[in-house]
Amino acid sequence: MTKPKAKKKSKSEESKSDDLKGKGTGKGNTTAIATTTTITTTTSAKSSSEKDKATAPTANDSTGLPPIDYIGYESEHQLQGMISLIENDLSEPYSIYTYRYFLHQWPKLSFLAMDREKDKCVGVIVCRLDIHGSARSNRGYIAMLAVSKEYRKRRIGSTLVLMAIEAMKQAGADEIVLETEYTNQSAIALYQQMGFIKDKRLYRYYLNGVDAFRLKLFCKPEIGPIS
Ligand SMILES: CC(C)(COP(=O)(O)OP(=O)(O)OC[C@H]1O[C@@H](n2cnc3c(N)ncnc32)[C@H](O)[C@@H]1OP(=O)(O)O)[C@@H](O)C(=O)NCCC(=O)NCCS
Repeated sequence: MTKPKAKKKSKSEESKSDDLKGKGTGKGNTTAIATTTTITTTTSAKSSSEKDKATAPTANDSTGLPPIDYIGYESEHQLQGMISLIENDLSEPYSIYTYRYFLHQWPKLSFLAMDREKDKCVGVIVCRLDIHGSARSNRGYIAMLAVSKEYRKRRIGSTLVLMAIEAMKQAGADEIVLETEYTNQSAIALYQQMGFIKDKRLYRYYLNGVDAFRLKLFCKPEIGPIS
């Protein structure tokens, strides 16, 4: 679903994706992760195992970078900051209903990176988890990911993705998917670093005629051959 600002996709095209058809039944609501934990870092966390504030760097470490707090979505008071960021960095003029569709049903699967000093949202990830296909797999879906331009290359994006993966795994995800423009090298590199593979190329997926890649992460170990 997510793509960089320069690219446009119509709402009708949005419906191309199985993952946008709103067929969630609410099964994704039962996520288990505690998202109220705040991760604080000035160098940005490398993995979800760093979800312990006590072990995170403090604001006074040697990096000189403003400290970033990673928090779970809590309520609509955070929504304006999220929308401003996403509207800056992603082309999609999502309606308020799109945000609410994800955030109200799967509040535990969305995370924000906050510049603590400015109390400003500088990174966001929005996800979903529901039953997919005839195999009835538990499919996580990363719908939106964006990091404010001046905060990029500090591992904020990868930290948000790791938090979302962890939350979806804890909620029982068998696999996690997303779409991105096939030319979006930074997003593809980020996701591949985390174990995502290119699953499908979606021909002319976006309104501008650009193809998308569907990237997929398998969350469960494969079942071995029956002996
Ligand atoms: C994609 C995006 C979220 C990355 O956020 P970020 O915080 O800068 O990413 P990170 O610092 O965590 O980078 C992690 C990895 O991603 C890759 N990456 C990030 N930016 C990159 C760039 N400009 N060029 C190439 N690779 C890049 C690298 O592999 C990087 O690992 P490295 O630092 O070891 O080289 C950010 O560039 C963004 O918001 N882009 C616009 C919106 C968008 O494209 N969203 C994704 C749609 S699916």
